[in-house]
Amino acid sequence: MSSHATPIPMMSSACGPLQGQAHVPGDKSISHRSLILGAMCIGETRITGLLEGDDVLDTAKAMRAFGAEVTDHGGGQWSVRGVGVGGFAEPDQVIDCGNSGTGVRLIMGAMATTPITVTFTGDASLNGRPMGRVTDPLALFGTRSVGRAGGRLPMTLVGAADPVPVRYVVPVPSAQVKSAVLLAGLNAPGQTVVIEKEATRDHTERMLQGFGATLTVEDTDEGRVITLTGQPELQPQDIVVPRDPSSAAFPVCAALIVPGSDVLVPNIGLNPTRAGLFTTLQEMGADLTFENLRSEGGEPVADLRARYSPDLRGITVPAERAASMIDEYPVLSVVAAFAQGLTDRPGVKELRVKESDRIDAMAQGLRAAGVTVDEGPDWWRVTGLGHGHVPGGVTVASRLDHRIAMAFLVMGMAAQNPVTVDDAAPITTSFPIFEPLMNDLGAQIARISA
Ligand code: S3P
Repeated sequence: MSSHATPIPMMSSACGPLQGQAHVPGDKSISHRSLILGAMCIGETRITGLLEGDDVLDTAKAMRAFGAEVTDHGGGQWSVRGVGVGGFAEPDQVIDCGNSGTGVRLIMGAMATTPITVTFTGDASLNGRPMGRVTDPLALFGTRSVGRAGGRLPMTLVGAADPVPVRYVVPVPSAQVKSAVLLAGLNAPGQTVVIEKEATRDHTERMLQGFGATLTVEDTDEGRVITLTGQPELQPQDIVVPRDPSSAAFPVCAALIVPGSDVLVPNIGLNPTRAGLFTTLQEMGADLTFENLRSEGGEPVADLRARYSPDLRGITVPAERAASMIDEYPVLSVVAAFAQGLTDRPGVKELRVKESDRIDAMAQGLRAAGVTVDEGPDWWRVTGLGHGHVPGGVTVASRLDHRIAMAFLVMGMAAQNPVTVDDAAPITTSFPIFEPLMNDLGAQIARISA
């Protein structure tokens, strides 16, 4: 886990064209959910293309601690022999979710309506993040919790012995909160209703339906109303995990800013609740095409082709698009630095409570690298310098945040001077093959001594 790993500084220098195919790893969101839902079935779920990053491996470990049999068959093939809804055993150790907010929040939901007591912890980043957004709705089911000041981990949850179903309006746009409530609703009798005012990624809803739960989604004046019928017998599935659009973002954005590049990123999941970055890039003038559009395992999939885009220009990203690209704002700010004009991003206060305060982390690094960034509590704006004009030549702090580390390494590929990231170890949480994959395309990323 990144909290215990030795820091790995990496330097990224200007490189020639990026060319070839980038086979990025499996989707992180779908990988977590495959393991957790697999653990909540009786029988064997088989998973192909699981992301073998630290975040997901921590969730696999947690599912074992709850009594599921989780087996790594090699080559991205995994299986989970589950214990059924309400069948989780009480773990005899603390559950350490490492760096993963998705892992801990979804697992809290999954155990919240089973009468077991579980203590959760994580690394320094995760232990600083708010958990009240999940424990507040879980309390409505009858789940008790005690943690550190401000609802921080380490935290102990006592699952409800006689859970009641819940109707909950999610107060922040968060798929993790929505998913935690739905997973808790699985072991409550009757109907649990979750209402979100803004649509967030819908993998939990799609996968619950795939696993045989009765779940309906209705668009109403109040928002998206999701109704789940509790206590189903979930049916084990064969799951093919699409490749992660949030990881694809890095080779795609790098190709747009490194002159002469032409990169194909095959088999990318393009669920509309995840694909906002690609729409935004196209509006900025990116040469980005979708080839072979198809449907796999209930998710839209395509091969993305990104080519160097000499005429990138800044735009205002609509606030209502934020949820569909929430993890992509750091790398978008790098593309914005190479565009002409202002790139404005309103409605993004959730970025302040991710693995790091991502507005602050990117703003500080970009400013040090010679780029003007203005910010407010829930907005930020980058003044583009245009291709060839981003100075770089800095060492930036990754703050235990994989996406900050990767965004700045992408910046180094086209900046005038190299960009060093003080610790690239967190990249293993979501994209363990980032360094060799980017270097195979032609990047110049090197490990340097601390
Ligand atoms: C995720 C939801 C998002 C996202 C995270 C993955 C998920 O978090 O940032 O990387 O898999 O549900 P929030 O729910 O906090 O927006």
